[in-house]
Amino acid sequence: MQWHPVLWTAASLIFCSCLFFWFNRNLAGKENGGRFPPGPRPWPLLGNLPVLNGNCLHRVLFNLACGKNGYGPFMGLRLGSRLAVVASDAYYAREILSTHDKIFATRPHFAFADTIFYGYNSAIYTLELFTAKRLRELSFVRQEEVKDLIDRLQEESAAGAKEVDVGKAVSYMTANTTSRLVFSRKAEEFDLTGLVQELEDETTVILRDFIPRLAFLDIKKMSRMKRLHDSIDAFLNPILAARRQLIRSLPASELPHDFLQVLLSKESCENEDERLTSQEIKGMLLDILSAGVQTSAVASEWAITELIRNPLCLRKLQEEIDLMKKDMITDDDTSHMPYLHNVVKEVFRLHAPAPLLVPRVSTEECRIGDYLLPKGTLAFVNAFAIGRNEVHWERPDEFWPERYTQHQLDSDGGHMKQNKTTVDVHGQHYELVPFGSGRRMCAGIRLGLSMVTVTLANLVRSFDWELPKGISPDAIDMAEKGAISTSKATPLLAIPKRR
Ligand code: HEM
Repeated sequence: MQWHPVLWTAASLIFCSCLFFWFNRNLAGKENGGRFPPGPRPWPLLGNLPVLNGNCLHRVLFNLACGKNGYGPFMGLRLGSRLAVVASDAYYAREILSTHDKIFATRPHFAFADTIFYGYNSAIYTLELFTAKRLRELSFVRQEEVKDLIDRLQEESAAGAKEVDVGKAVSYMTANTTSRLVFSRKAEEFDLTGLVQELEDETTVILRDFIPRLAFLDIKKMSRMKRLHDSIDAFLNPILAARRQLIRSLPASELPHDFLQVLLSKESCENEDERLTSQEIKGMLLDILSAGVQTSAVASEWAITELIRNPLCLRKLQEEIDLMKKDMITDDDTSHMPYLHNVVKEVFRLHAPAPLLVPRVSTEECRIGDYLLPKGTLAFVNAFAIGRNEVHWERPDEFWPERYTQHQLDSDGGHMKQNKTTVDVHGQHYELVPFGSGRRMCAGIRLGLSMVTVTLANLVRSFDWELPKGISPDAIDMAEKGAISTSKATPLLAIPKRR
């Protein structure tokens, strides 16, 4: 029997609709049974991927979870063939980062990690690199680079006559600092900032990460990633070769005291478990360069932006810094500056440079509250949403460093309902987790915090910050761009006037 084309179309439509409703009912059934956290209805094959399309994933997820009729602080998603959860309050952040830390201690094998980042996924030696002792020994590097930044800003602005791109100037400094700590060489010797920018552009999830059978659609992106990997390899190989040569020709006492030296010393480790391969070393170096350069620069740019928008806070901070009576502020000085630390905490609460931290994946089935998460569930902790959660923060959208000060009165003259005096960013207070927490917490937290704090202190110690003529603080664009790591969408242009 021959079917009429209209009949064919009708039959296909009915079949597709049945499939769609069966698929959704199945998932909803699980939700009702309390088995997987609630979330938006998934489409066949794509799941919730279409909803997540676009810039600033942390904001999309924030609105889905916490907006009007949102799905709540523990939201379930289906991303192609993978299940994912998003934690948007301190309770669920603690469940993932602390209570079930071991189960969620692994990073997912996304294509960009395997293709660009040497597939490296271990945290052991990164911790060894960032000890307090090592960072103290290398603090002179940071001091020199901050001094260089101040001199450059003075010169670039023609002694306060014209505006400068604040983020660009600071990232030049963080690139030089990180590069000297890692290789004992300035970033400008090999255009590290350009490489980091390219890394940032290509570090993104692609279709094959969620729907492997559509991998053929990613051919172009994959070849771009491979090309970037090859150019990184061509950049790192000669650096490693030159250092190996140096190791052969110099006594140990004359070798540089940098991260590369520590890592290369593990190449010939007697203990097999501690030995590192060349690929692993390159993976770690790349991790550190990509994680270290932009994050601190982005946070510093947001800090100056917020201080320009809040001149009373800027004044108060300058008064605190002036009490030190020093030309250059050091790490040691900042321990006497409580308001500076409050300003930095407030910047991280509102503008976490990695707003979804770095995704993790469960290595076994896990029960959280009433929910059961199968092995292989992706976990996102939305630090941005947690920082703006009204349950944890009074007046969450306001830049208000005084919230961390004892006996603070609220706007109506009453005492604050929430006491935030002991809250810090070190991963023990789950309402403020810009560096994550637990065993995969940011390995460079000491360095990152110190770079942001000391840089900010010196930027406001040395300059008054003004906007170009005709621009009011309210007109500053506060939008972000980016997915895994974010930055200010419109660079801050401001005039540093020497104080
Ligand atoms: C403002 C500065 C910084 C912020 C906000 C930041 C934030 C983060 C976050 C959120 C994570 C993931 C944590 C988690 O999953 O729980 C991370 C991981 C990491 N960060 Fe940072 N970071 C900063 C600076 C740095 C610096 C300066 C370095 C090194 C030079 C660094 C090195 C790393 C490394 C190696 C990891 C991976 C750790 C792992 O996978 O175990 N970070 N960072």
